Amino acid sequence: MSRSELLRWGAGVLVVLASTVIGAWMPRASGPPQVRRIEVKARQYAYDPPTIEVNQGDTVRLKLTSQDVVHGFYLEAYDLQATIMPQSPYVEVSRPSRPEEKPEKLEEVEFVADRTGKFRYRCSHTCGTMHPFMSGELVVKPNRLLGGGVGAFAGMLIAGCLLACVLGNGSGEAAVANSGRSPHAIP
Ligand code: CUA
Repeated sequence: MSRSELLRWGAGVLVVLASTVIGAWMPRASGPPQVRRIEVKARQYAYDPPTIEVNQGDTVRLKLTSQDVVHGFYLEAYDLQATIMPQSPYVEVSRPSRPEEKPEKLEEVEFVADRTGKFRYRCSHTCGTMHPFMSGELVVKPNRLLGGGVGAFAGMLIAGCLLACVLGNGSGEAAVANSGRSPHAIP
């Protein structure tokens, strides 16, 4: 096997290796969207947990409870507002964009996390001196299936660059080999 053939073999192996390594390194496909049921406890002046993390496309069901006084839960990005009563299994849920609608009494607040990013939610019911600072964060992570595809593409791109680099180094020799003449015959 000539050196240029070896180089091509090596390049082929590199392509496979780079794709595999980068594909494995990227987050795995998370599969179909899930229903995420999360309990959020409100108290003066915080939410527990302070951060809610879901994947894009998940159906989020929040069970909101209060451990002391009446609190609110206002998630502007999803047009959602709830009033949380202590010692009540129900919350009063309304849509701020539709003030004409009567609030609904629900056990859980439900929405589909279709927008990615970080969204603050805050208390919308005066609950004490530190009320204006009572807030939390919803994190909607992008669909990982898409991320995996990008990872595979990046892997192939990097592998392609490596291939070009390796073949570039070996090309002088390859040209000589393909010409069928000895190096001395080239002027
Ligand atoms: Cu809690 Cu205002």
